[in-house]
Amino acid sequence: ALERTFSIIKPDATARNLTGKVNAMIEAAGLRIVAQKRIRMTRGQAETFYAVHSARPFFGELVDFMTSGPVVVQVLEGEGAVAKYREVMGATDPSKADAGTIRKELALSIGENTVHGSDAPETAAIEIAQFFSGNEIVG
Ligand code: CMP
Repeated sequence: ALERTFSIIKPDATARNLTGKVNAMIEAAGLRIVAQKRIRMTRGQAETFYAVHSARPFFGELVDFMTSGPVVVQVLEGEGAVAKYREVMGATDPSKADAGTIRKELALSIGENTVHGSDAPETAAIEIAQFFSGNEIVG
């Protein structure tokens, strides 16, 4: 079914001027960018967004990184968009990601891994609602 997922182009990618390259890989996979904005996340936004990871040892580092520079938040639409974008991104750890994926081609490390994508349709709805109002999404 036609589905939406939430994507973040992370600070390591905006710092290296890779927004267009990431978007080209998203669009080449048949996903449509139906909302997009460049923002600087506040610590509060990052802590809310990553609340499920708050007990992990890397939580502080993760919030520091995600607030260290601009990010591009996006809504992607397509058939099976959640699973498709996870394929396009590749594994969290770029050294384990398949050839041709965003993380294999562009990511620096497990933390500075270039992109985020929702892990399930339910999560996608929550993540999209944190950053976009309905009238900002144009399908
Ligand atoms: P993301 O998909 O945005 O969701 C959680 C993030 O935590 C993940 O991408 C990684 O960037 C980050 N992460 C996961 N494991 C580690 C780790 N061991 N050290 C630092 N960051 C991590």
